[in-house]
Amino acid sequence: VLLEHQLLSEHAAAARVWRHRERIEREAAVLFDELASELAATGAPAALAGLARRAADDERDHAVRCRALVDAFDASLAPLEPRPPRLGPPELSRADRALYTSVAMGCVTETLSTAILIVMRDSVTDERVRETVHSIARDEVAHARLGWAHLAFAAERSPVAWLSEHVGGMLAAALATELPEQGVPRLDGLGVLSRDRVERAVRETTERVIVPGFARYAIETSALGHV
Ligand SMILES: [Fe+2]
Ligand SMILES: [Fe+2]
Repeated sequence: VLLEHQLLSEHAAAARVWRHRERIEREAAVLFDELASELAATGAPAALAGLARRAADDERDHAVRCRALVDAFDASLAPLEPRPPRLGPPELSRADRALYTSVAMGCVTETLSTAILIVMRDSVTDERVRETVHSIARDEVAHARLGWAHLAFAAERSPVAWLSEHVGGMLAAALATELPEQGVPRLDGLGVLSRDRVERAVRETTERVIVPGFARYAIETSALGHV
């Protein structure tokens, strides 16, 4: 009976985490849809806009998958209302704001989340969670690529070093969504990593992928040094 009770409370805790992810996926879908329109409106290559549309569809699929896990673990939890943020300072031009969005979402958030999902995938024991994490991780790689591809395209036309002053804020925003809340128990088997495992994945990916990636475009990343 005691074991059964523990399992129930673990499932209840995991359900809340997956519900939080369901909301994040819904918000990402809105942001990628907007990005696709902005890319089309500002003369970016059709391939980039196409990647953004595809990413929005993927995020909707991820949200459905997250919801299936919520229902499996605690069907009483209703979805949270998505609240997509408006990314970037208001004074940016439309094209620069689209670039800001691509870089924040693709180069920072999706790059980190790919790394975190790969760590997660290796510790999951629940079959349903494993399937979901595997499928989401595969798509997030493509979303990260959209960011890096947009950055490469923009950098060929004009300097992108103005992004330097924003990368610290982008990382902070990504961490706010990726890091597990304080007090959430560690449930690796159900796709809930401990904070320090997430922090380690973030640190390694920042050092090995994000900092060198930005350095190629003369984007200053000293603000990322204190992760
Ligand atoms: Fe996603
Ligand atoms: Fe994504």
